[in-house]
Amino acid sequence: MEFSIKAALPEKLKTDCLILARFADGEAGPQLASVDTASAGLLGKLIKRDLDDKAGSLLALPTLPGIAADRVLIVSLGKHAELTDKTLRTALTAVGKWLASSKAKNAAFGATDLVAGGLELPTALRTATVLLADACYRFEALRSKPDDKPAGPARFEYLLQGKSDAATRTAVEQGAAIAAGQALARDLGNLPANYCTPSVLSDTAKSLAHEYKLKVQVFDREGIEELGMGSFLAVAQGTREEPRFIVLEYKGGKAKAAPVVLVGKGITFDSGGISLKPGEGMDEMKFDMCGAASVLGTFRAVAKMGLPINLVGLIPATENLPSGTAVKPGDVVTSLSGQTIEILNTDAEGRLILCDALTYAERFKPAAVVDIATLTGACIIALGHHTSGLLANDDALAAELLTAGQKSGDRAWQLPLFDEYQEQLKSNFADMANIGGRPAGTITAACFLSRYAKAYKWAHLDIAGTAWKSGGEKGATGRPVPLLTEFLLARTTG
Ligand code: BES
Ligand code: MN
Ligand code: ZN
Repeated sequence: MEFSIKAALPEKLKTDCLILARFADGEAGPQLASVDTASAGLLGKLIKRDLDDKAGSLLALPTLPGIAADRVLIVSLGKHAELTDKTLRTALTAVGKWLASSKAKNAAFGATDLVAGGLELPTALRTATVLLADACYRFEALRSKPDDKPAGPARFEYLLQGKSDAATRTAVEQGAAIAAGQALARDLGNLPANYCTPSVLSDTAKSLAHEYKLKVQVFDREGIEELGMGSFLAVAQGTREEPRFIVLEYKGGKAKAAPVVLVGKGITFDSGGISLKPGEGMDEMKFDMCGAASVLGTFRAVAKMGLPINLVGLIPATENLPSGTAVKPGDVVTSLSGQTIEILNTDAEGRLILCDALTYAERFKPAAVVDIATLTGACIIALGHHTSGLLANDDALAAELLTAGQKSGDRAWQLPLFDEYQEQLKSNFADMANIGGRPAGTITAACFLSRYAKAYKWAHLDIAGTAWKSGGEKGATGRPVPLLTEFLLARTTG
């Protein structure tokens, strides 16, 4: 979907679908009012008769006399006093879903009325762009014949009374960049493991590097061995599929400015290994690389936006399979940090690949490191599917990420990393075990990672519950690309 801004009278605009916002109380915004006048008051009457006050309610009119648009869609924003980011999101998501199943090839949205409702225009349009594009996402790569019905309009215009300013135009461009990043994360997540292999992840990194002039380095099994990543290799030793360690660098900031490092879990399929998972729902373990996908998606968004920041992406990628060469429960391995690990459960593999990437991150002398991982089923028990888990060794960094989640509607919630939990990782045979028992599984997983993240400010996002949806709407969500891009944007504007 292409987004642009246009100065035009809503009633005169030729478009397949004119979209206007309506508040349940107070006066109509200037754009809604002028369309109402052009329809000789008919629009107002129909709204009164058929549109619910609740935010997100829609009134779709197949035609309206006196105006140039083919269709009109009115969306309720609820009451003025109750207008929040959340209501705006609800309303825009409803519009996006409606558009996704309509035949309109283009659409225009009366954006001036949002300002009249008290919203800040650039922020509102950035949010709108991300949500509308995301609602019209469709995964078609593996159908033998593409759907001949388009997924939503190809062009989308924001209508303004008068000229737009630079901040508003930038905001729309940023929204489109974030949406493109989120779509990449969704595409990679949705691809099954026989398509999305570690080498496909590294090829994606390479093509991003080519498109946006990033630096990229890819290590194969031998290279990973030479680096000394014994823990990562232990996970990779059970599969014939070649593992990859991907290092991506975006340099948009000052040459000497310390980078933010993003580390993404790239298990392209998690069978559990010798500690095999039960069969039911195992297909969903193709999504176990969604952390990696969110790193690549964030790079796409940041590079498209041209953010003045230095960013490093680290992705350890492999399958986790059982075989005659697979790592066994009880095996002890030596990580890149030198610390030894007793692998009591081969299904706790995410932390085993991440710990070596975290050690590798030290060489960048990072301003902050954030890892993103579908790490624990326990996180779904704790927070369900609405909120990502957040753990950190630095409270200011945690606060930045929480705020970014709040602002982008891609929320996280912090869990404690108290020292007491570290005791659960005690091993009789090595420096630590890779599991900490049933209690507080998300916290003990983060405790494990924290032992490799002592050299810098670090935060961990457990996206086990938020990276994809199950059931009828099964598919990757592209989260937490909105959170991460918001976090990085805020770092560039102070
Ligand atoms: N990838 C899984 C976590 C997961 C499970 C995410 C289900 C989403 C849905 C991870 O590698 C894993 O298997 N974790 C184990 C850890 C346990 C063995 C300590 C888990 O959560 O059961
Ligand atoms: Mn696992
Ligand atoms: Zn896993």
